[in-house]
Amino acid sequence: MTLKHIILDTDPGVDDALAFLLAFGSPELTVEAVTTVAGNVSHEKGHRNAKQLLEFLGRTDVPVCGGAVRPLVRQLRHAEEVHGETGLGGASLPEPKMKSDNRSAVQVIHQKTDELGKELTLVAVGPLTNIAAAVVGDPELPSKVNGLVIMGGAFNLTPYGHGNVSAVAEFNVWHDPDAAKIVFNSSIPMVCAGLDTTTHPDYRLSVEMFKEIEALGTRRSQLIIDLCRGIVERFNGFSLHDPMAVAYLVDPTIFKTRRCRVDVETCGELTKGMTVVERRHHRIVEEEANAEVIVEVDAKRFHRLIMDRVARG
Ligand code: BDR
Ligand code: CA
Repeated sequence: MTLKHIILDTDPGVDDALAFLLAFGSPELTVEAVTTVAGNVSHEKGHRNAKQLLEFLGRTDVPVCGGAVRPLVRQLRHAEEVHGETGLGGASLPEPKMKSDNRSAVQVIHQKTDELGKELTLVAVGPLTNIAAAVVGDPELPSKVNGLVIMGGAFNLTPYGHGNVSAVAEFNVWHDPDAAKIVFNSSIPMVCAGLDTTTHPDYRLSVEMFKEIEALGTRRSQLIIDLCRGIVERFNGFSLHDPMAVAYLVDPTIFKTRRCRVDVETCGELTKGMTVVERRHHRIVEEEANAEVIVEVDAKRFHRLIMDRVARG
């Protein structure tokens, strides 16, 4: 088995927490560092949550590096109405004892890029502020690494590829569209797990699966229940946004992607943060593609992975 080295860039976040469980529960992946970014909650809260999750998992050996405390240009927002006041739903984990790494997110991304090159894949499941800063700081980075897998965007490539914070924008891209624009135009090889598939009813975590997890009665399943119960009850199930990006790296054969040319709207009155797919004259232009977007998921295998790696661990 080839080990994939990753940096997990995150704004924890309830579904980010599930992405941690999947990443650290998957022997195919080596997490070189966790980097944090403001998004679902303030950077301070998200950074603390990342440490709590690493302590829960017994992985305090993994460096956790602080990143952007706000978007590049715009005002800071958050999504506490979905993720709860702490960012971890109804879960309450002990105050973390582990120290943050001295390096910043951008520093560790640059160091690991130079050390691991094509063996390194960046996984970004929050706003793209840190990744944009890393690309601006080292314009060669896109050609040095294996690539970038993101949770982000709504591409209108399936009936579910529409917005969650506005009619057309997905939260991570909307939160820092300027950063997303830099990243999509950087020529870094990109795979996107967007709302097209993460909100597809066949791929979500159903209430039945949630009950199955509850019945496991372990410390790990209890954490998942505490994290997700509020969202599951409110939205009749749970969209596995961030875990889907990690799952793509664990086993890409579960997914079908479509190559397309994507740019990001930064100034539209109604469309800020929209990921616009070039589709003039009803044609998706594959020749000038800068991203691969997940458009189909083998639901059975994806859910099996979630149950085995996230829930059972
Ligand atoms: C994305 O936004 C956040 O709320 C989630 O953590 C996920 O990364 C979904 O739009
Ligand atoms: Ca997230």
